[in-house]
Amino acid sequence: MTWTSWQQAWDRALYGESGFYRQAAGPAGHFSTATQGVPQIGEQLARALLTLMSRESVDTFVDMGCGRGELLEQIHRLGPHIHCIGVDIVSRPQLSKPIDWVQSPGGGQLPQALDGLSDTLVFANEWLDVVPCPIAEVDEDGELREVLVNPSTGDERLGDPASDISRQWCRLFWPTDRLETGDRVEIGQTRDLAWEDLLSRVVSGLAIAVDYGHTTDSRPVAGTLTGFKQGRQVVPVPDGSCDLTAHVAMDSLRHDELMDQRAALRQLGVSGQIPPHDLARVNPTAYLHALSNASAAAALTARGGLGDFLWAVSHAR
Ligand SMILES: C[S@@+](CC[C@H](N)C(=O)[O-])C[C@H]1O[C@@H](n2cnc3c(N)ncnc32)[C@H](O)[C@@H]1O
Repeated sequence: MTWTSWQQAWDRALYGESGFYRQAAGPAGHFSTATQGVPQIGEQLARALLTLMSRESVDTFVDMGCGRGELLEQIHRLGPHIHCIGVDIVSRPQLSKPIDWVQSPGGGQLPQALDGLSDTLVFANEWLDVVPCPIAEVDEDGELREVLVNPSTGDERLGDPASDISRQWCRLFWPTDRLETGDRVEIGQTRDLAWEDLLSRVVSGLAIAVDYGHTTDSRPVAGTLTGFKQGRQVVPVPDGSCDLTAHVAMDSLRHDELMDQRAALRQLGVSGQIPPHDLARVNPTAYLHALSNASAAAALTARGGLGDFLWAVSHAR
């Protein structure tokens, strides 16, 4: 057994030859997200994104890290004039014919074919939290050291002092001077670079990263790395049997705007307002439909839930 850096073990476990994300089940087989858990929620999100695309005058939609294309199908159904492109690490699943697909290496690496995107909205929902990053911990002498892992058991031990690049990132985004022994830093530089690479592929339009994350005033010093498997949270073991995810330092990503999902979706007309009771008498079917939309909207914007996700928005320069 070799002790391995978390970054390396994590990358192999998710994107290696028999990596977790290559399983036929896809992400939806293990956890639910805004795009694929409940169809009505995905539909509300798709409507909001179509509103945004119309405001921004863009007509191509790229779903980065799209799972099995669940959101793409919603966008295509509600906006058939939109050119939809899915990007994920598996080959194209069964999707409506006009939806294009680009296969990607995975993690922080992007496919060459994804380039020159014009008049495009790139949407990356819960991608960056599965881009592996180095994990460091403060030792008894106050030194920040890289955490190593045994890939078959998930056992950990401390390795060398964190690299110069990691320290430099910490100085800018996650100061360590007030940290105590055992405190952790999930070093976001790999996510920043992956995001930067994605932005460099957009010639005109915008890109949005949506994830559970933190900003400089709310860094989680206990560490957030965890696993998910068949709907349950599990101990993170990098053996390909479970998802591995850690919250994203959203403010270190290049962005023009950073806001929570509640605020972002309110701007796009997602309100969660209950329909008037009178409608139930006049048109019961319309009332039930409006009620279902309102409950999906409420779920997307809920405090303590999806509404707390952060949106980093960056326009092409
Ligand atoms: C947490 S899942 C989210 C899936 C979907 N966006 C959703 O909201 O349900 C992360 C997805 O990102 C994909 N992924 C990770 N790195 C990628 C990369 N470099 N290129 C394309 N897809 C990637 C994984 O294969 C996985 O399907």
